[in-house]
Amino acid sequence: MAAGTGVFAEILDGDEVYKYYHDGEWKKAASGKSVAIVNPTTRKTQYRVQACSQEEVNKVMESAKSAQKAWAKTPLWKRAELLHKAAAILKEHKFPIAECLVKEIAKPAKDAVTEVVRSGDLVSYTAEEGVRILGEGKFLVSDSFPGNERTKYCLTSKIPLGVVLAIPPFNYPVNLAVSKIGPALIAGNSLVLKPPTQGAVSCLHMVHCFHLAGFPKGLINCVTGKGSEIGDFLTMHPGVNCISFTGGDTGIAISKKAGMIPLQMELGGKDACIVLEDADLDLVAANIIKGGFSYSGQRCTAIKVVLAMESVADSLVEKVKARVAKLRIGPPEDDCDITPVVTESSANFIEGLVMDAKEKGATFCQEYKREGNLIWPLLLDNVRPDMRIAWEEPFGPVLPVIRINSVEEGIHHCNASNFGLQGCVFTKDINKAMLISDAMETGTVQINSAPARGPDHFPFQGLKDSGIGSQGITNSINMMIKVKTTVINLPSPSYTMG
Ligand code: G3H
Repeated sequence: MAAGTGVFAEILDGDEVYKYYHDGEWKKAASGKSVAIVNPTTRKTQYRVQACSQEEVNKVMESAKSAQKAWAKTPLWKRAELLHKAAAILKEHKFPIAECLVKEIAKPAKDAVTEVVRSGDLVSYTAEEGVRILGEGKFLVSDSFPGNERTKYCLTSKIPLGVVLAIPPFNYPVNLAVSKIGPALIAGNSLVLKPPTQGAVSCLHMVHCFHLAGFPKGLINCVTGKGSEIGDFLTMHPGVNCISFTGGDTGIAISKKAGMIPLQMELGGKDACIVLEDADLDLVAANIIKGGFSYSGQRCTAIKVVLAMESVADSLVEKVKARVAKLRIGPPEDDCDITPVVTESSANFIEGLVMDAKEKGATFCQEYKREGNLIWPLLLDNVRPDMRIAWEEPFGPVLPVIRINSVEEGIHHCNASNFGLQGCVFTKDINKAMLISDAMETGTVQINSAPARGPDHFPFQGLKDSGIGSQGITNSINMMIKVKTTVINLPSPSYTMG
């Protein structure tokens, strides 16, 4: 079955524009306006989505608010049951959804299918975790605090926040949407989803799987449109009780403008890979390829700078070069390793970083080559701190190597970054690895492996400009609730068996 056909036919208006989802129905924007989604490979319009107005956003917010009231009274086991159903439907329709990922974000075909399957698993795990942790509260007694008798019993429980605004990024429009939707729903919240333009159609297909699972009307809503028209309006909307955002600098602007509501932000990184003299260089090279070049480097957790000890740098660079030469470059449909980057402006930005490094004397391990949005993988050796590529994230298949003379120099470079998402260190000495991990100012340090968010139940968090709060299934559920307490006051102290 192809995207937009079979069970997905109702999300498409004729054969032209995909509809938005409000109050359990697929709708067209009243203005008749739409937004084009350009295929990164063909650079032609692939899909169109509705350009929703602020008025339509207001209506969506109203529906989300009223649906949440009833959902909060829906038994936890029932919420979990519906999530399991949605997960199964999502996995059943992995191919049409993966087709959208290939066409609108140029994700390699196999990785696109993996993203959908991973998302189904994430939703099921969330349902199970929610049943376990949301069914538990705390019971405290007052006589543990100085000056108190045992006259107060305090009962705590976890209650929903209300309406969660979920904004996923282009690189995982399905997986990083369900990582917000699942926790929000199991915790009793309703959802307004604003997909990225590039990735919107994949998101709409995913939302239809939740529709088919039979969630109540208005509980999940998905608006599409121009960020310039509805972006600020959504993030500053008084009806929003929590924002979960993954993306770039926009997140910093959102954090400054948002009201007094919980924020979960994941905003990119400049993940460093520190390589010590005793590292297994074949293992390092394999991880640099996986960490630096998978999905053409368009991952917040990609290795974005290699900090190699001078004594092993020559040998490491040779090993990485040999592996780069084996990467398959071309269209995502052919499941190539390196595919076109998401937009022409991204390709231009990457090219700017490459040219800056060239002017400043970096060593090009391959010739720089670009056709349209397709950029050939490039390893830049002898990068120095005065080059932009030493600090900025290319979000493309270009990886700088900085040679270091001491571990301290590597840690210093890592910590001087304004990002602090993940990092990795390669050494056979676990004691050194632990010391380096503790010294690195990042949310996670991987020892002897490339950075990665998954498995999806692991905590995932960034320091500094890399984010606010921690994700991962358990942490996201806990972030999307508040604690409510009821205190029973007794007329006289009561001691069990007393
Ligand atoms: O792009 C940001 C994602 O959170 C990275 O996820 O490590 O699974 O590729 P990943």
